[in-house]
Formats: sequence, C-alpha cells, structure tokens
Amino acid sequence: MSRLLHLDTVDSTNTYLKMHRADLPHGTVVYADCQTAGRGRYDRTWVSQMGGLYFSVLLKPPYNPFLASLTQLMALSICRALETYGLSPTIKWPNDVQVNAQKISGILSEAVFDKSVFQAVVLGVGININQNDVSHVGQPATSLKMLGVQTTRETVLENVLQFFWQDYPALCEKGFETIHAAYIKRFAALGTEITVKDGEKTIFGLAEGVSPRGTLLMRTAQGQQEIYIGDVLS
Ligand code: BTN
Repeated sequence: MSRLLHLDTVDSTNTYLKMHRADLPHGTVVYADCQTAGRGRYDRTWVSQMGGLYFSVLLKPPYNPFLASLTQLMALSICRALETYGLSPTIKWPNDVQVNAQKISGILSEAVFDKSVFQAVVLGVGININQNDVSHVGQPATSLKMLGVQTTRETVLENVLQFFWQDYPALCEKGFETIHAAYIKRFAALGTEITVKDGEKTIFGLAEGVSPRGTLLMRTAQGQQEIYIGDVLS
C-alpha cells in the first residue's frame, strides 16, 4: 500500500510531502534519518536527532468528516506495533503515545487546501527508537532502546503502517466508532482527574470517556463537557 521514500536529512517530512503532494500518489510515505526543522503540535519544535523514526504519510481520500480521527487511528497503530515488543503503551488523548507514562511518540496531522478545496492530509509521526537521551522533550519521555528493546526504525515503520492500512478503509467510511473499543482500551486517563489546555482555555475535571466521535468526555464543575481539541496536561 505504501510507496516508501527515504531521505538522509530534510527540514520536516511533513513539509516535504506538503510541497510535493501534487507529484506523489496517495499512500506515499517519506521517512528521514534526521530533520532540521521538525515540527510538533501547537507550533512546537520536534527535536529530530539520529536514532529516532521520523515519517509522514500522504493521504488523498475524498473529503469526509472522519479525517480528524486519522491521528487517533495512527496512535492506535503505533500502540499495536509497540505491543508486539511486549510493551503496554497507552494513549494520552488525543494522540500522544506513552509507555510507563513517558512520551514515546507524537503525531502531527496537517490538512492541505488549495483555494479552499481539500487536497490531502499529511500525517507526521515521530517515534523515539534508538536514542539514549530524550531529555530535550520537556516532559517525561522514553525510547524503545531505553526500554530495553533492540530494533530498527524500518521494522517499526513497517509494523505501524501495516496496522494503519488495515483499519484505514473502515475508518474513512464509518469514522472513529470503528476503532472506539480498541482506542478506549489504551486510553490511560480514563476515570482520573486531568487538566486539558486549548490555547488560553484550561479545563479541569474527570476523564469520563471518549465518545464514538473521538472527542474527550469530561465531568467538570459545570457538568459533562465534550472536548474537541486540546492537550492533556496531567
Ligand atoms: C507532537 O507530539 O507535538 C507531534 C510531533 C510530530 C513529529 C513528527 S516527526 C515527522 C513529522 N515531521 C514533522 O515535522 N513533524 C512530524
């Protein structure tokens, strides 16, 4: 399903696919040994030194309301790939992957429009694989190597993509509900008190669940709230 391109160094695999999207087919995957300007969510920098896996997938489905759930499908696919090493990864809503409450992977999804017409989604993934030190992450973080797992970036990439393409058609057709049960099983914060930040807005409450649409359901002092976007802080 994937046409795989490898680059030694690039500014950002997401930027690369956005620039070259017209010349590349649906399903193209580009991965790089390192990135000089790796980007994270909320305009954060994604430090991308040698040893990590940095890749992006170019998706050109017909526009549909379920595209927002692609990051959650990718998070689930990463969990499934890491589980093959005997690890028990969890998802920090909406799409960070953690092992032992330490971040091991992040996902940046970017929709591309041309004169307001939808063109593509670029799904970018960073996974800590062979780094010995991830102290730059700015939150508790780990890598497969630090967890005692010996593997190659290519093996992990292949595994993640296999799980991703397996569930991709159903998700595009029917949405998040097709992965709801599998996602919730790996949703670490269920039943705990969390703080969610979206820009200047901070919401505190009990994580009651994830809806069949993929939104976060929180019990706050004002009652149940449905959260569409944000970063879970604790
Ligand atoms: C996050 O946790 O904030 C998301 C990080 C996403 C990083 C990946 S690395 C490959 C792709 N290229 C980028 O510039 N960013 C994504």
